[in-house]
Parts: sequence; C-alpha cells; structure tokens
Amino acid sequence: MKAVAGFYQFNPAFGEKERNIEKIRDALCSIEADLVVLPEFFATGYQFISPEEVSELAEAVPGGMTTDILVELSRKENMYIIAGLAEKAGDAFFNSAVITGPEGFMGCYRKTHLFYEEKLFFSPGDSGFRIWKTGIGNIGVMICFDWFFPESMRTLALMGADIIAHPSNLVLQHCPGSMPVRCLENRVYAITANRTGKEDRKDGAPLEFIGMSQVVAPSGEVAIRASADEEILLVTEVDAEESKNKQLNEFNDLFRDRRPDLYRLR
Ligand code: ACM
Repeated sequence: MKAVAGFYQFNPAFGEKERNIEKIRDALCSIEADLVVLPEFFATGYQFISPEEVSELAEAVPGGMTTDILVELSRKENMYIIAGLAEKAGDAFFNSAVITGPEGFMGCYRKTHLFYEEKLFFSPGDSGFRIWKTGIGNIGVMICFDWFFPESMRTLALMGADIIAHPSNLVLQHCPGSMPVRCLENRVYAITANRTGKEDRKDGAPLEFIGMSQVVAPSGEVAIRASADEEILLVTEVDAEESKNKQLNEFNDLFRDRRPDLYRLR
C-alpha cells in the first residue's frame, strides 16, 4: 500500500479565492502524487472579521465552486486532495475540510475544536471524526487546533485511520514538535499542511502563521518538513501497512494493551 503523499504550503491572499485556487491548481498539476493536503481555509484566508464576509466567502459543500474545482483536479490528476474551506450550510457556517479523489467528491469533516475568534463566526463541528477507506489506506481528517486534544487523533486511529490529513493555519509554535508523539502513540502517519505569511485585518490582532508543514511517520520520525516561510509542495513515500502494525515489541501492542476500563474520558 505504498503511496506518494504530502502537502502544499503557501500564503493564501485573504478573500482572493480565484487567485488562491489558481495557485493550488498550478502546484498540483506540477507533480505526481496520490495524496496532497492543503491548508485550513486555503481558498479564503483565515482572519474573518465580520459575519457578512463569512457569509460572502463561505460555500456549499458539495456544490460550491471551490469543491467543484477540487473534484475536477482530483479526477484529472488522479489524486486524493484534502482541503480546508469555509462551509455554508443553511444559516450555519463551519470550518470544514473536504476530501475529493479520483472517484469525485468523497465527503466533508467539520472542525470539532474551534480556536480563538473562530468561535465568533463558526459553529462547532457536528460531523464527528470520520475516516475514508481508499486504495492507499484509510484516511482520517482533523483540522488545525484539533491536534491539541489527543482524543482527536486517538479516535481517528481507533476508527482505523492509517494516514491523518491535517489542514492547518497554525499560529502557536507547539504543533510541529508535538505531532511526532501523537504519531508514535497512535502509530499513524500525519500530514500537517500549514500556511505561511501574516494577516493583519483587525487592529491590534495581527496573526503570523508558522509554516513548518510536515509529514510524520508512525515511528515518530519527521519524514519531510518545510521551513517557516517557503511556499512549497513536498511529497514523500507513505506505507499504510506500517500504520496497521501497532506492535511495539513481542509483549506490547499499543492498542491491545490499552486499559479503557481505567481511563477517565468524561
Ligand atoms: C487554528 O486552529 N487555526 C490554530
């Protein structure tokens, strides 16, 4: 089940959907890969400052322009794409990620743990964690701040995820150094696709995104990592079979050795 997978790290321009989509189109058409993860809110930018602009920029999933273009790209390039976008669903807005593949639209995940001022404009996700079975392994999705809650990756891993796609707009420094532990304890791959650049759309509250997108292996090793500020598409080989083996040594299996009867989760 070997596959080529990675991320496109770039600096989306706020509100300039066509330009941002053109950029990812050029990048994705330039490589051979089975799976590419794009950042959170890749088409719109991140720092919304009014409900009106959320309403103007968010889109239906499926059926919106951005999802339609991702479907077309996935089909044409024969690749899975996981991409963060602002979703409009009736009167509600979600911080979502869509998954598309050679077969077309596959589904959507709505971010469970909203970060900071996202809470002003978006509803907490109600999709629950989901995995998609594909020819390159089971793909699970979480979005940015979800990583801070170990339950997110544990839930996806217990559901059978081999590769966790992680569209992000990270501003805190902790994630790149912490994901190796999340991958090691769950024995899964994680592909964090972060963005670069700054947004300063609100007086006194500039946001600086940390880049450092990466692919981490089930061993906890960082296979590839971008720098803090480069716009770059990087891919590496992943092997979902490695995620299926939870055996640490002849006595310890990381999932079978769990003691849920002794854990407190509520
Ligand atoms: C984040 O969840 N965008 C930090």
